[in-house]
Parts: sequence; structure tokens; C-alpha cells
Amino acid sequence: MKARVFYLSLLMFWTLSTVNTFDPLTVALLVGAGSTLAPLAWVTWGHFNERCDSTWIHFNEPGLRSDLENKLVGQHIASPIIFKAVAGFMKNPHPRKPLVLFLQGSTGTGKNFVAQMIANNIYKKGNVSQFFHVFTYQLDFPHQSQIETYKSQLQQWIKGNVSRCAHSIFVFDEVDKLHPGLFDSIYPYLDHHNQLQGVSYKNAIFIFLSNAGASDITKIALDFWQSGRTREDIKLKDLEKVISQSAFNDKMGGLWHSPLIDRNLVNFYVPFLPLEYKHVLQCVFAEMKARNLSTNGDIAKQLADDLVFYPNPMRVFSAQGCKTIHARLDFYI
Ligand SMILES: Nc1ncnc2c1ncn2[C@@H]1O[C@H](COP(=O)(O)OP(=O)(O)O)[C@@H](O)[C@H]1O
Ligand SMILES: *[C@@H]1O[C@H](CO)[C@@H](O)[C@H](O)[C@H]1NC(C)=O
Ligand SMILES: *[C@@H]1O[C@H](CO)[C@@H](O)[C@H](O)[C@H]1NC(C)=O
Ligand SMILES: *[C@@H]1O[C@H](CO)[C@@H](O)[C@H](O)[C@H]1NC(C)=O
Repeated sequence: MKARVFYLSLLMFWTLSTVNTFDPLTVALLVGAGSTLAPLAWVTWGHFNERCDSTWIHFNEPGLRSDLENKLVGQHIASPIIFKAVAGFMKNPHPRKPLVLFLQGSTGTGKNFVAQMIANNIYKKGNVSQFFHVFTYQLDFPHQSQIETYKSQLQQWIKGNVSRCAHSIFVFDEVDKLHPGLFDSIYPYLDHHNQLQGVSYKNAIFIFLSNAGASDITKIALDFWQSGRTREDIKLKDLEKVISQSAFNDKMGGLWHSPLIDRNLVNFYVPFLPLEYKHVLQCVFAEMKARNLSTNGDIAKQLADDLVFYPNPMRVFSAQGCKTIHARLDFYI
């Protein structure tokens, strides 16, 4: 009996959450069911309503490893760093500070994609979890003139959300375009404080995404390519000079002399390499699979051939990485 009622409520919830437009009969049925099952529905509701506990937040270590190894293409340097950084942090019961990752590389190389993977392997609800926050300057901080408002708003958001759930994740896209003042408002949360006004930020994850430094990374990747060495020969130490804090001071725009950089608040600087033709093909195949299409090599080649590759005339790296593939595939199938 209990089980049956549970499934009824489950069905009810399912209907409520998937059907946007109700016909009168559905509404009548739901109201009828609702009035008799209300107390139980209330109990079961908790099962669907995301909470900040181990039912909803649970680190899936093999899942993250597998996503990074199988879904992320062409990033042999970023992939193991991300894995070790996140796994080490999530398995440490008493981290000394929040995890701060700084992902750098050109557009469409997988920076947002990786942030989503991290969310998908920490939150049961994945990237639609209420504990996963993505900020973009176009949407969240569009007007330079309102910077003071944004600063206090952002502080309130971070404080409010971490108070509600210590295991919150905050992603800042295109930080090279953000106003430097915004960073001044965030950096206190990234440090080793035990608590700030009664709130501890040590279990939070902050992920900064940046296109700055991309041209230096590309230059190094191109040097390897031109001297006939394979991409996989590129090691982190080859890129360290252009991605670490010493590289920031004169070219990071919004991060110019930012405390974020000066105070060593970043745990890991992670380079994303520009993607080559073969990686673009892999992205197209992945997209075809995601749409349940049979993977068609001719179509994939046509799509890839129409993308912009640089530098001329060698056409080694995709200018938009894998970014436009999702939208473009419609025109080729
Ligand atoms: N390295 C990659 N491996 C697999 N797919 C990728 C990769 N880079 C980009 N993509 C695809 O392109 C889309 C856009 O990439 P995104 O992560 O948003 O780029 P950015 O580096 O600009 O944040 C992703 O959602 C993913 O589908
Ligand atoms: C969540 O991930 C899906 C698929 O990867 C993507 O289409 C969607 O935009 C993401 N949602 C958010 C809120 O980032
Ligand atoms: C949490 O962050 C979001 C932005 O992602 C914001 O809209 C919301 O108000 C914040 N919640 C609290 C309690 O501050
Ligand atoms: C693809 O097929 C799987 C299993 O058959 C299904 O669960 C999924 O919803 C389908 N995806 C699309 C986009 O049709």
C-alpha cells in the first residue's frame, strides 16, 4: 500500500514537472489526487526537492575520470590536472581553502564543458543543480557604470549561497572581460580564512575561465607542430611560463595586479590547447551520437571542412574549437 501511494505521488510529481500546459481533466485529477495524498506528497516532495546533503551531493570519482578521458577530446594536459585537483579536494574532509581553478585557452576548447562535467559528477541534478552557478559578464554584469552594485550583489550571492550550501560551485566565464573591481569583491572568499562573518567558504569551488593567454598557448602548440613533434609531447612545463601568475601582469586586462593573482589564491592554472581537425571530427561524431544519428564520416568531414582553421595557410587549429558544431550540424543532416 505504502509503495503504491509512493508511486502515485511520484507519478503526480512527474506529471507536474514535465507537463507545462494542463488540460482541465488533468488538473481535476491532480487536484483530486492531491487532496487525498497531500500529506504523503509532502513527504515525497523532499525526495525531489534538491537539498544540500549526501543524497544530492555526492562526488562520483570514476564518473569524472571517465568523462574527462572519454568525452573531453584533445586536452591531454588539462584532463589529469582537473581530475587530480577535483578528486583531491572532494576527498579531503578538511580542505584549507576553497578550490580555485583557472582554466585558460581559446574559445570552444572545452572550458565550460569541463565545468559542466565537474557539476555532473558532484550534483545529482548535474549542471541544473541550484548549487551550481555560472556567471557571464554579458548576462550578469553588463554595464560598467553599475559596477558598485554588481560588487555588493555578487558578494551577497556568494555569501547567501555558501551559507545555504557549503558545497557550492561558482563559474565565472570570460574573466578577462570582467571589471577588475569585481575580483576585489571575490578574493576574500578564496583565501585561507577559517570563517568570514560566520560563514566558511572552504568547501566551495571557484572556476575561472579565460581566453587570455590563448595566443601564447597556441604559439607553443604551433611550434611543436611545425617542428614535427606530436601534440602529446607538449608538457605542462612547456606552458607554465605563459599560464602561471608571472604571465598575468601585463596582459590580463581585468586581472591586472589583481589580488587573485598576487596572493596566490589560484590552486591550479590549467591550459586548454587549441583543437585540430581530427578533434573537430571527434566532436561532430559525439554530437551525432548524442542525437542518436548514425555516425556519418562524410557529413562530419563536410562540416569540419567548412570551419575556419588558422594560421593560414597551414590551417592547423580550429578558430572556434568545437563550439559551433552543435548549431551547425542541423545544416548538414
Ligand atoms: N575538448 C573538447 N572535447 C569535446 N567537446 C568539446 C571540447 N571543446 C568543446 N567541446 C564542445 O563544444 C561545446 C562548447 O565548448 P565550451 O566548453 O563552451 O568552450 P569554451 O572553452 O569556450 O568554454 C561544448 O559544450 C562541447 O560540446
Ligand atoms: C547543462 O548541460 C547541457 C548539456 O551539456 C547544456 O545543454 C545546458 O546548457 C547546460 N545547462 C546549464 C545551466 O549550464
Ligand atoms: C545564489 O546565487 C544566485 C545567482 O546564481 C542568486 O540569484 C541568488 O539570489 C543567490 N542566493 C542567495 C541566497 O543569495
Ligand atoms: C537516444 O536514444 C536513447 C536510448 O534509446 C534515449 O534514451 C535518448 O532519449 C535518445 N536521445 C535523443 C536525442 O533522441
